[in-house]
Amino acid sequence: MIEVKNLFHSYKKNDEYAVNDVSFSIAKGEIFGFLGPSGAGKSTTQGILSGLLELQKGSILIEGKARNAYPDKTFFNRIGVGFERPNVYKKLSGYDNLKFHAALYDVKTEDPKILLNMVGLGEEGKKLAGEYSKGMMQRLGFARSMINHPDIWFLDEPTMGLDPSTGNKIKRIIRKRQSEGTTIFLTTHNMFVADELCDRVAFIVDGRIVAMDSPKNLKLKYGQPKVTVEYIEGGKLLSRELGMRDEEKQELEKFIAKHEIKTIHSGEPTLEEIFIKLTGRGLE
Ligand SMILES: Nc1ncnc2c1ncn2[C@@H]1O[C@H](COP(=O)(O)OP(=O)(O)OP(=O)(O)O)[C@@H](O)[C@H]1O
Ligand SMILES: [Mg+2]
Repeated sequence: MIEVKNLFHSYKKNDEYAVNDVSFSIAKGEIFGFLGPSGAGKSTTQGILSGLLELQKGSILIEGKARNAYPDKTFFNRIGVGFERPNVYKKLSGYDNLKFHAALYDVKTEDPKILLNMVGLGEEGKKLAGEYSKGMMQRLGFARSMINHPDIWFLDEPTMGLDPSTGNKIKRIIRKRQSEGTTIFLTTHNMFVADELCDRVAFIVDGRIVAMDSPKNLKLKYGQPKVTVEYIEGGKLLSRELGMRDEEKQELEKFIAKHEIKTIHSGEPTLEEIFIKLTGRGLE
């Protein structure tokens, strides 16, 4: 569906690259995630793909055809863009924001009321967007990004700053759209979001992709399964992490035999642990 090859971007048009030789492809109906810390180049990549930033160097094919070969309006009609800072019209109500935005498309659009309900703003539709809280504005921006029923959907940090239950609501909508065939490019520095939602994830740091696979494969390939054992020693409850690789099993058995064990939990490594292992950097 989307094929990106050797993408570079320099804001200063010198040899300082915010995106540095990035290549990846996204299959139709896939949720593909960019996971990386602040300043990694996630939003810049989204900006280039969605047409907000010029394509300086590299190629972007959509269904085998150069993205720039599509007339602007054709492309605009089929994509949805959720920004990291939602740029809603503050002097318009939530409802009017959606109504106004819907009028910009030549394709069938969704009923603003249904979208407002979907993102939990059904009661606040008449309120001015300028009076919305940050999370409400974020949800309005999210609703706006899907008003034209995009078949390619760009989402920049879609759940950032939302409480867990609202975040889950947004995740459910994303999954539903995926099940209807929407192809989704999602950026985040939240490993849980990447893990839960993405079919494949690219780790990005300093403008470069350092690993790319399904969350499960990344864990299998780079992570080490471990066991957390809670035990009593000197009247205190202590805990210890032990490895589960073949060469570590003996140590684990010995440890269990020697101690008064209270609980044993096995756990897989998190994407963040793998990220740190591969890049030496955390995700913040
Ligand atoms: N408009 C701009 N002008 C100049 N440099 C910019 C601009 N926007 C981003 N950059 C730089 O490009 C690099 C990548 O930024 P980008 O916004 O793509 O990162 P990000 O991964 O989205 O980070 P975050 O998680 O903080 O949103 C950073 O070094 C940033 O300072
Ligand atoms: Mg960003």
